[in-house]
Amino acid sequence: MTFENRNALVTGAAGGIGKATALKLASFGCGIAVCDINEAGLKAVASEIKDKYGVNTVSYTVDVSDENTCRTMAADAEEQLGHIDILVNNAGIYREGYMPFEKQNSDLWNRKIGINIMGTMYLTHALLEPMYSRGWGRIINIASVAGIYGIANMVDYSMTKGAIIAFSAALAREATEKGVTVNAVSPGNIITENGRNNEHLSYIGRSGTPEECADLISFLASDEARYISGVNYPIDGCRRKI
Ligand SMILES: NC(=O)c1ccc[n+]([C@@H]2O[C@H](COP(=O)([O-])OP(=O)(O)OC[C@H]3O[C@@H](n4cnc5c(N)ncnc54)[C@H](O)[C@@H]3O)[C@@H](O)[C@H]2O)c1
Repeated sequence: MTFENRNALVTGAAGGIGKATALKLASFGCGIAVCDINEAGLKAVASEIKDKYGVNTVSYTVDVSDENTCRTMAADAEEQLGHIDILVNNAGIYREGYMPFEKQNSDLWNRKIGINIMGTMYLTHALLEPMYSRGWGRIINIASVAGIYGIANMVDYSMTKGAIIAFSAALAREATEKGVTVNAVSPGNIITENGRNNEHLSYIGRSGTPEECADLISFLASDEARYISGVNYPIDGCRRKI
């Protein structure tokens, strides 16, 4: 994969898929801006990136559901690194409020919408025009198989991820001719720090890893993915059961 003079901003990079993606892009020589609400985790990732790969790295303790902070971070990252060419909107919440829809409440919905949908829109909006002005960009939005099939007890979450898939497809139809590709990636069951292996959910017979997701995300961010835009890629080991 080719990444010449590229910088990436990865949200939700303190752990899981975001951390694996930031490390993978750094391994290809990309300058990296990482953001998360988990300050300690973020610091650890930023030092790991610098120690292992020595690339320019900046980090931001930011809640992506806050529009002003997102815009300030985007402008600062552009200034610090020179240009942000790749945006990976990965920050998301899904563990909160696992329950039937009738038991949920609007606070829960608004929180999921704020982080999973609005965070993606704020940062994309802030970084899109600079990408247009340079005629090159990659936006990769992390959705979920929940947004394709729907998952019981995760109705609100499924709705936010369905929105991300539609957002990506629609924006690609505006952005691609200006040099910016937009794609979604929909993980199935991926084992992260607090997760367990779920053999029954895929025909492969195991959960996926953050590194496997990072490989796909990095490919979509690379020069070689130049003819791919407006697509949603499931990465779920051939999902068996929802
Ligand atoms: N792990 C899975 O099985 C799976 C499956 C499908 C989709 N996803 C999606 O992949 C993405 C990453 O998930 P993960 O499994 O790596 O989860 P994770 O919880 O390990 O990582 C998510 C990161 O986002 C951060 N975050 C949460 N709220 C934030 C906010 N308001 N502002 C900034 N950062 C915030 C968290 O602190 C965390 O570091 C999410 O969008 C998730 O919905 C995960």
